[in-house]
Amino acid sequence: MSRGVVVTGAAQGIGRAVATAFAEQGDRVAVHYSTSAAAAEATVAALPGEGHVVIGGDLTDPARAGSVVAEAVAALGGLDVVVNNAAAMIRHPLAETSYADWQEAWRETFAVNVLAAANVSYCAARHMIDTGRAGRIVNVGSRGAFRGEPDYPAYGASKAALHAMGQSLAVSLAPHGIVVASVAPGFVETERVADVLSGQQGADIRAQSPFGRVATPEEVAAAVTYLASPGATWSSGAILDLNGASYLRT
Ligand SMILES: NC(=O)c1ccc[n+]([C@@H]2O[C@H](COP(=O)([O-])OP(=O)(O)OC[C@H]3O[C@@H](n4cnc5c(N)ncnc54)[C@H](OP(=O)(O)O)[C@@H]3O)[C@@H](O)[C@H]2O)c1
Repeated sequence: MSRGVVVTGAAQGIGRAVATAFAEQGDRVAVHYSTSAAAAEATVAALPGEGHVVIGGDLTDPARAGSVVAEAVAALGGLDVVVNNAAAMIRHPLAETSYADWQEAWRETFAVNVLAAANVSYCAARHMIDTGRAGRIVNVGSRGAFRGEPDYPAYGASKAALHAMGQSLAVSLAPHGIVVASVAPGFVETERVADVLSGQQGADIRAQSPFGRVATPEEVAAAVTYLASPGATWSSGAILDLNGASYLRT
């Protein structure tokens, strides 16, 4: 059965791998982007299957978040799965950051990573409830929520908030048959972190895992498609660690 899927921030990196994984299993995917229009078009052009679309929009605008969902519903003939993948990651270590830049980093990070995800989830879940769909919402969180992000404190805090939102929605949406879960990846080899991984820090980062490497985007995508699958209902509320045993939380 082909489902309608929207993946936010899917022009590249993990989002693109997630979009590809859904398309490979026969789903119709809306590839959302904010600024990377050409990359989003290329991502959609490379997806297997038919019925995929590109939808642009800055999700920090609540009205645009709502219209992105509405456009996905219209283009895909309904929406069954939402993947909240879009995120901002702004470096702002406290000791090196001005008060003005500190405030801006927290504001922008929470606007994208938490508020946009909340608004997309709201609009999509209303559609799922109104149309009686057993929908799925999967949040792309982070290991940083548990391990800390000293150079990106707003990012770590925002991912903890995203995980917590997923847990709350898992409870409140279960009576409607909607499943909500999150993944918490450690380092993943994407364009965004390519410089860090190829530089001096790269070897140290790979050594964080006893496997001696970081994750591939496809490994994250496999977990996301599992959590969105019909058989994963009992994973609702889960926060699935995907960090190659680099950080074991209790
Ligand atoms: N890579 C890692 O090591 C790692 C580890 C743990 C968790 N994660 C998480 O995995 C997800 C994807 O990461 P990635 O490495 O693939 O990063 P990425 O390439 O930067 O993807 C995130 C996307 O978010 C979109 N975005 C940013 N601001 C937006 C806004 N205001 N409105 C709408 N979309 C916006 C961007 O879209 P445009 O390019 O179109 O502007 C960007 O492509 C993120 O949630 C990240 O926190 C990544």
